Amino acid sequence: MTIASKFKISPGQRSPGRGAASAKYRGSARASRMALAAAIARATHSRYDSPLVFDDTLAFDMLFGHWRWIVANRFLDWLVLRKLLGIMRPVYGQVVARARFSEDALHAAIARGVRQYVIVGAGLDTFALRQPGLVDRLTVFELDHPASQNLKRKLIQRIGVVPRNLKFVEADFERESVGEALQKSCFDPAEPCFLSWLGTTFYLTEAATLATLRSIANCAAPGSELVFDFCVTEESLGPHDRAELAALKRLAARRGEPFVSSFLPAQLAERISGLGLELIEHASPDLLERRYFANRGDGFRPSHFAWLAHVKVPLRHPGQSQPRRRFDAPQ
Ligand SMILES: C[S@@+](CC[C@H](N)C(=O)[O-])C[C@H]1O[C@@H](n2cnc3c(N)ncnc32)[C@H](O)[C@@H]1O
Repeated sequence: MTIASKFKISPGQRSPGRGAASAKYRGSARASRMALAAAIARATHSRYDSPLVFDDTLAFDMLFGHWRWIVANRFLDWLVLRKLLGIMRPVYGQVVARARFSEDALHAAIARGVRQYVIVGAGLDTFALRQPGLVDRLTVFELDHPASQNLKRKLIQRIGVVPRNLKFVEADFERESVGEALQKSCFDPAEPCFLSWLGTTFYLTEAATLATLRSIANCAAPGSELVFDFCVTEESLGPHDRAELAALKRLAARRGEPFVSSFLPAQLAERISGLGLELIEHASPDLLERRYFANRGDGFRPSHFAWLAHVKVPLRHPGQSQPRRRFDAPQ
């Protein structure tokens, strides 16, 4: 039995239930196929692009099934990922740009002394496996749906052992908050942390996304920072970018993981400050392109449908003399 068949990585049934988000997770045991798609994007970039925006040296090791064969072979990789699925190239650009943006901010936080890193919706992220030098300085909490996490554990076992600073925390964000999930672990809410939440809000309802931000604002100690990405509304895009987004939405829906929410950046910025979070940087695709993709000859660029937000839990809240240190209740 292959890893893929064991974990039911196949088109699955959509179950009826609460809201439109994360249909595959309700009562089903399927791991995220879009997490695999993101790992494919990082793997093909690391292997064949130059210069590199982000070097995920272990992304290839997270691949399985036919995708491993395709990415292993330069011609097949070119044929499938760059010709047949060529419209997806900017999406791969977005995947590597968000990882670069987030890990740059993470390394700055570690340099300031942050010792906890929470990866919300971790998928096949390999940070904890790529950083043996941080094993005694940083605890990494990977929060993900149990189905995705079970697959990840198997894949890691295939390439080595789980680093002792990596803690797996099962969570379903349609049912529980980040704070509630972290409460099941050795996470210390009194200590500042860095959180990343990448490639995941797309699949959550607006309410679940805002509830997760609220939970982070409540459970992370003052000074903690978060990087997350979100999809902008179709109406805010030009015809070409709209076609690119439509192609990705079709792909995601075929894999049982439909895009269900989108935001206008300015409106989301208001919601962020309404939740008591400080916006450090709002990174548009144009900014990411100028910062990470300048002077390339291959036309590689990030897609225009996703923005990044880097936010902070303020050091003091109005009317609060003590920093908050509490886990939140569900709202
Ligand atoms: C496209 S993947 C992104 C993974 C990773 N952050 C990356 O950038 O490669 C989306 C992740 O969100 C997780 N996810 C989606 N909906 C979820 C939910 N309701 N509860 C828990 N995890 C969820 C999936 O299991 C998957 O690992």
